[in-house]
Amino acid sequence: MNPTTVLDVDRQVFAAYFNRKPFRVWHSLPGHPLFELPRLLELARALPERFVEYNAGALPVGVRPEETPRTGLSAEETVRRIQECGSWMVLKRVEQDPDYGALLDCCLDGIAAYARGLVPPMQRREGFIFLSSPGAVTPFHIDPEYNFLLQVRGTKTVSMWDPADRFVLPEEELERFYASFVHRNLPWRDVFQTTAFVLPLVPGEGLHFPVTVPHWVKNGPEVSVSFSITFRTAHSARRELLYKANARLRKLGLKPTPVGQSILLDRTKQLAFGAAANLKRLLAPAASRDA
Ligand SMILES: [Fe+2]
Repeated sequence: MNPTTVLDVDRQVFAAYFNRKPFRVWHSLPGHPLFELPRLLELARALPERFVEYNAGALPVGVRPEETPRTGLSAEETVRRIQECGSWMVLKRVEQDPDYGALLDCCLDGIAAYARGLVPPMQRREGFIFLSSPGAVTPFHIDPEYNFLLQVRGTKTVSMWDPADRFVLPEEELERFYASFVHRNLPWRDVFQTTAFVLPLVPGEGLHFPVTVPHWVKNGPEVSVSFSITFRTAHSARRELLYKANARLRKLGLKPTPVGQSILLDRTKQLAFGAAANLKRLLAPAASRDA
């Protein structure tokens, strides 16, 4: 497979909007054998249990993590009965299977070809496959990676916000997400929807998700299969470190300057907290030897 024939991205749009706003890309994955249900069932069986997450799909947008119901079905039954079982399932880190790993690399090489000179080198390439029943809802949340969601089968509508919108996504939520991750779902208010970008997706289309952009997803009236191709960069790792630093400062009773507002402060925090994190990593093996 040739990466630039699998994916089509407008280079000028990429240059203008990458990691700032959502934009569409196009791909040739609909009908690909790796996304047929029997092959996905085989993948769900082969992946270690912790990489297969599934629950009921008819959820409110603002569901709290502790309220997320299971369906009572096994992962295998969920795939087999996806048409009628009202479920949402994600197969995580699918690159562990060599076939899916090769496809992920091919797709991300396509992105890298358009990104040349525009973004730092890709790190931690990871792939996720979402399989959802008609009408399933993925609640309001954020993710830590740069993401391109490629719609392979069925339709879905993504509601997404400007990643810099601090009314919908306050700094404190970002700090919590990076420093004390419990669940990726966010507190929801109905008024948020009035300022959402509402983006329908059909097979062959894809959508760019900036790092930690708030979003929720509603499936169309058919079974949906989508492939999420993700990566991180030195820039996203630095941003994570800065949010962890701000979380620490807030815990000390301070009001930290938001990430990105002061180059000097960000640099100082990066040096101080980066050094502390390195020291902690260095001391960890010694501490466990002493125990
Ligand atoms: Fe997401």
